[in-house]
Amino acid sequence: MSADIKHLIDWKYWDDGEIVEILDLARRVKHYRWEYQGRMQGNTLVMIFQKTSTRTRVSFEAGMTEMGGHAINLDWMATNFTLSKVRFETRYLGRNAAIIMARLKDNRDLLEMERASTVPVINGCCNLYHPCQALADVLTIAEDRPEGVEGARLTYIGVYNNVVNSLVSIAAPLGVHLTLVCPIREPASVDEESRKKLLDRGLLTETLDAGEAVAEADYVYTDTWLDMELFNDPDYAAEKEKRSGIMMPYQITASLLAGSRAKIMHDMPIHPGYEIAEDMIEHEQSIIYDQAENRLDAQKAIMMRLLNRL
Ligand code: CP
Repeated sequence: MSADIKHLIDWKYWDDGEIVEILDLARRVKHYRWEYQGRMQGNTLVMIFQKTSTRTRVSFEAGMTEMGGHAINLDWMATNFTLSKVRFETRYLGRNAAIIMARLKDNRDLLEMERASTVPVINGCCNLYHPCQALADVLTIAEDRPEGVEGARLTYIGVYNNVVNSLVSIAAPLGVHLTLVCPIREPASVDEESRKKLLDRGLLTETLDAGEAVAEADYVYTDTWLDMELFNDPDYAAEKEKRSGIMMPYQITASLLAGSRAKIMHDMPIHPGYEIAEDMIEHEQSIIYDQAENRLDAQKAIMMRLLNRL
């Protein structure tokens, strides 16, 4: 692998200035969408999925189409990644593709892909990080907040997971204050390095008092209580029930948000009746669909930055 290839595994590996710049780029891409048509002409994106997806798949493919490039979608199980080593198959991909986006279950496979790749690799969500989602999230806050993202107070209520790790790593350079209400926090799921960085900058509060956290919030964000690939797995039914028991008092409901003007965020897919009550999904304070739409502009900005098509 060439040392000068830029990848996106998580924002923690990018400089603060680079993160500020990519948010600016994503804002410009959204505001002047037509100016970026044709920017990817002649380039192929290979997307490879070990897990299901709606938004990541659609937004990367639509983003490539709108910028004049092409996207190939690969279902992991239908490829020869199942037969060989990640590094050999990845080496081949770089002979045909300009850029790779991979949604892999295990961050270690993603890092092997990164090491082997001769083209930029984007993490489309692994067990530890979801950086593309985090960029769309801060873009949504930036759009909603004319004074800028710095100083915004974002409260996340849910399980400490890959989405949280990437929110933590993108929040620090942007000056976003994060309050985490995470009754379930498995040590193996927490990126302590990013957490400590946010803590050291005075931008992290951790509490189990959801009411207090909401009262101080500009944005209230939630996510699934169980990893997406396990949600409907009968082998995880007992774990789902256990987590639901712990998490139900932390569901986003009208009574939790009573008196709050905080906007409601969710990265989707939504599990109504679990992490969020159904009536809150399209509530007047919800910006969930704007947030999901912004995956498109975030992906475009990421691909342009990594391929230097600025
Ligand atoms: N938020 C998100 O990554 O959506 P998908 O799993 O549908 O891609």
